[in-house]
Amino acid sequence: MSRWSMFVSLALPEYVKADLLSEFDATFNETGSLLSQDALIERAAGKDALMVYVADKVDRKCIARLPASIKAIATYSVGYDHIDLKAAKDRGIAVFHTPDVLTNTVAEATILLILSAARRVTEGAALIRSGQWRGWTAVDFNGIELTGKTLGIYGMGRIGKAIAQRGRGLDMKIAYSGASRLPPDAEQGATYFKDPEDLLKETDVLVLACASTPETRQFLNEDRIEMLRPNAIVANISRGDIVVDEALIAALKRGRIHGAGLDVFNGEPAIDPRYRELPNAFILPHLGSSTIEARRGMGQILINGLKAAAAGGTTKNRLV
Ligand code: DGY
Repeated sequence: MSRWSMFVSLALPEYVKADLLSEFDATFNETGSLLSQDALIERAAGKDALMVYVADKVDRKCIARLPASIKAIATYSVGYDHIDLKAAKDRGIAVFHTPDVLTNTVAEATILLILSAARRVTEGAALIRSGQWRGWTAVDFNGIELTGKTLGIYGMGRIGKAIAQRGRGLDMKIAYSGASRLPPDAEQGATYFKDPEDLLKETDVLVLACASTPETRQFLNEDRIEMLRPNAIVANISRGDIVVDEALIAALKRGRIHGAGLDVFNGEPAIDPRYRELPNAFILPHLGSSTIEARRGMGQILINGLKAAAAGGTTKNRLV
């Protein structure tokens, strides 16, 4: 098996780079910034594989212009809405992503979002850091207890299931909506709603854990926010485009919902600036999968996929 050459478009931790370099002749984007499509295509010249990430728009136009040497695209993400899989398939280019290895990390981040929104962490953290805290009172920071509340999960894939498991640990009732109903052993007593709008009506804490597809984009609009139970919480760990910002910001402003925990945004990193001003929005810079364990696992699963492809085989994380 020949050793593949590869261009990596994103900055990676040194320990992941070392793992890659032990298996491939890898060169890296050392600019620390997002490359233009032209630059990406130029740097791919003569390489066997390309490693990209969510900010790279690998659309049909980009794929059509990739050099003939490219046999595989590996995305350092579980989401692949930034890649035109059909176009890659049409050109005979394999595509790999990073399922499973980041599931626990992302599920843990979701609980962080939920708890932080429920317990008004944005306001509390700002107060103590300001030096203005005057001591304990019974009136400040009254939050929401999660015990007994219904966790409604929109998108019950690997990550959705891992979030459900953690919700059970918090004594929450689990409800979900997804493409299909889980078998009873996976469902573990969770309530399935075929129609996601029926899920919303029964939900205290909504988690958006679906992939970004034409069906799910802009899902959480004004009408659907109105369907949530009073004092609801919205957590988004999926993609910013599942949410209509205008509607969510309005609901947060007028107190229609208690709070939101958001790790992903439309147009990130240029997020709607109003989120930064909302005391009941707990916002994070897309760090849901950012643990050492997940980062290493993401590198390793892509290495395994690319090595298998180089040897003419395949792995479970191959999309096309
Ligand atoms: C993913 O893996 O899809 C995360 O959102 C990071 O890109």
